Amino acid sequence: MKYYIVTYGCQMNVHESEKLASICEKMGYTLADKREDADLIVFNTCAIREGAEDRVFGNVGALKKLKKQKPSLIIAVCGCMTQKQTTANYIMNTFPFVDIVIGTFNLPNFEHYVNAVKTGRQLELLQEGDIDESVPYKRTSGDNAWVNIMQGCNNFCTYCIVPYVKGREKSRQEANILKEIREVLAEGKYKKITLLGQNVNSYGKDLVPAVPFAQLLRDICAIEGDFKLTFMTSHPKDLTDEVIDVIANEDKILKDIHLPAQSGNNRILKLMNRVYTREKYLGIINKIREKIPDARITSDFIVGFPTETEEEFQDTMSLVREVKFDSIFAFMYSPREGTVASKMEGQVPQEIKQRRVNELLALEKEIQKQEGKK
Ligand code: 5AD
Ligand code: SF4
Repeated sequence: MKYYIVTYGCQMNVHESEKLASICEKMGYTLADKREDADLIVFNTCAIREGAEDRVFGNVGALKKLKKQKPSLIIAVCGCMTQKQTTANYIMNTFPFVDIVIGTFNLPNFEHYVNAVKTGRQLELLQEGDIDESVPYKRTSGDNAWVNIMQGCNNFCTYCIVPYVKGREKSRQEANILKEIREVLAEGKYKKITLLGQNVNSYGKDLVPAVPFAQLLRDICAIEGDFKLTFMTSHPKDLTDEVIDVIANEDKILKDIHLPAQSGNNRILKLMNRVYTREKYLGIINKIREKIPDARITSDFIVGFPTETEEEFQDTMSLVREVKFDSIFAFMYSPREGTVASKMEGQVPQEIKQRRVNELLALEKEIQKQEGKK
């Protein structure tokens, strides 16, 4: 019996799929080279933008033929998309050949749902629970080991679906994280540890006693061994001077900082509920450059947020020009059902979003050429 996992979205999903893989192997499945050879196909989905969801619908739909040829094939759709009840129902109704539809919080029980398929189709969305420490990972990222340090997000940026599908911020106990990293390093094949969280800078605020993110970083660096440490994603509102100092001072920490700005305009930042201004963002960048001269700074931007004018978009362009990021990701705003921004008046037409994203990416290319960056 063979399994095949199709993963969409961010590194956290890639890492969650490593958990799915270990559950599949525990059940006796081995990895298939391609989906046609599999007896169990799992889609681990992403809900961040409409495009990601459309790709899932297309790829799930394409399995109809395969299921007809092999009726014993089990097809499961899980992850952020299916944590939304409306999308879960839609998938059950539109794709009658899908056997399992579960949400992000059901994932540790995946084995149960596969076994239960024998008694019929499964649709269940659990409410958020404690962080799962029970299921190991089948690591799949070469000499990099992903290590989750927290789940969820409390920020409710008005465009973002994540807080709705991943629940509130919960930090893992520091002792569990340190133990996992020690074990990973003891295997001898990992050279890099990448800490994952929606908002790593607020790690540990919910623990009793609280453990500041800077302390977690220092404690990890104190572990013996030849390894590099990095993390994602940072929110500018929580990136403290102390964390910048730790990055500057610890040789083990890579000088890569992904710091999504989202916009360079204060009115739009406020509407996005980002809780910082352009000036505050630039202040943090200056501090980083001062203390970590070789820092490699990258960012995310959203263009065409509801009511964004041409002038306001030009503020994003000027921020990118000013900071000269090492690289940026630029996204067209995609309304997500249930979020505040999706209900705002003044949605920006698609062709304007397209033009703005092209303009921003062209600027990035030009800067990289001038700066001699790759
Ligand atoms: N539309 C477009 N981009 C989005 N992002 C998050 N939500 C949306 C949305 N609704 C982007 C942000 C974030 C990155 C992971 O995805 O830039 O930093
Ligand atoms: Fe979404 Fe904002 Fe949380 Fe990031 S910080 S996951 S953009 S709500």
